[in-house]
Amino acid sequence: MKAIITGITGQDGSHLADLLLEKNYEVIGVTRRCSVDTTERIKHLLDFDRFKLIEGDITDVSSVINIFKNNENVDEVYNLAAQSHVASSFNQPSLTWDITGKGCINLLQSLVDLAMFRVKFYQASSSEMFGSSYDIDEQGRKYQNEQTKFMPNSPYAISKCAAHYSVRLFRDAYDLHASSGILFNHEGPRRGENFVTQKIVSWIKNYKTWKDKVCVGSTSYNDDYIYCDRDTGNRFPKLRLGNLNAYRDWGYAGDYVEAMWLMLQQDYADDYVVCTGETHTIEEFLEIAFNYSGIGDWKNYVVVDPKFYRPSEVDYLRGDCSKAREELGWKPKYDLEGLIKLMLDAKL
Ligand code: NAP
Ligand code: GDD
Repeated sequence: MKAIITGITGQDGSHLADLLLEKNYEVIGVTRRCSVDTTERIKHLLDFDRFKLIEGDITDVSSVINIFKNNENVDEVYNLAAQSHVASSFNQPSLTWDITGKGCINLLQSLVDLAMFRVKFYQASSSEMFGSSYDIDEQGRKYQNEQTKFMPNSPYAISKCAAHYSVRLFRDAYDLHASSGILFNHEGPRRGENFVTQKIVSWIKNYKTWKDKVCVGSTSYNDDYIYCDRDTGNRFPKLRLGNLNAYRDWGYAGDYVEAMWLMLQQDYADDYVVCTGETHTIEEFLEIAFNYSGIGDWKNYVVVDPKFYRPSEVDYLRGDCSKAREELGWKPKYDLEGLIKLMLDAKL
């Protein structure tokens, strides 16, 4: 089997490559030109003979067509490429649309134009598409599943909705085996540094290094800094975060790429929610992470900085992935506590 992965240098791309190589696939990863090396997450794969990188950018149709023409025997295409940061999408809405929305259409249309109808296609859809929309279960708890309507409220989510609907259209209109995984937040040691979970974990690591190596005495605080009492010139900045009250359904990225693969092994293409079914606030994440790392009460170390607020926020995400459980036989292996321990242990 041969697969093309766009977004190979990202968190999910690297995990998916690991999984497919384990399954004996030949994997072609698409990387875009960059002034610095972006292969940190796939360094361990670079010398592998079934793993190749090719240059390409999904916003450039000619580049997409070239990739497919040079790999006409490909079996599966996983589109994981995106401008994936929600807050950044408010600053770069057009670019986000070009990559996250139109990029997917470029891939689908190229498959059709080249008559590559036997290729199975995976699209990385997102729980962010639900925005402020939810349903209520028998216990009165809010949730989102495949039937919940989309109410996107960021340029990122709008682009993802366009891509998601395009996948449905190409499935219906051209009979393409094209599936979308509506994935809720998933994290892990390879998570980008500017997503909230990794930002917290990285701060903890840096603080512990400072506390253990530089500040051997006791500490005191002001609003913005932690001071080392034995040397008041020595200070460490507090962790600055935005909205701490949003709820997220956080799972482990390594689990979620397995659901992507399972979707493409089905006889018929479809859309599937992938999640844990549990939801927690950023405050709860902080509580568990600070307790596990032994630092103490997170409230002494965190500053709420409006700079990190978004023009529009998704307040509540909790998925119901009954369909993926029943039809794909998939279930998550990590809960939030397990995930935080995994991330902290890797970092520390
Ligand atoms: P990520 O770490 O931000 O990776 C994004 C990848 O897309 C990177 O490899 C990036 O390359 C690549 N890319 C960006 N623009 C590109 C372009 N124009 N052409 C080709 N490649 C381009 O994201 P992730 O967390 O792995 O997520 C993977 C996918 O799942 C994304 O589509 C994301 O929107 C979606 N998703 C993620 C989550 C989650 O919680 N992680 C949940 C739902 C959906 P560079 O390294 O060059 O920047
Ligand atoms: N990034 C960030 N930085 N988020 C913060 C911060 C901060 O300093 N402080 C609070 N938050 C809050 C955000 O406002 C949001 O409510 C929550 O933490 C999670 O933010 P992110 O980790 O940036 O993730 P996201 O939920 O916006 O988006 C991620 O999940 C989506 C799936 O629901 C990304 O991976 C998207 O690509 C993905 O589609």
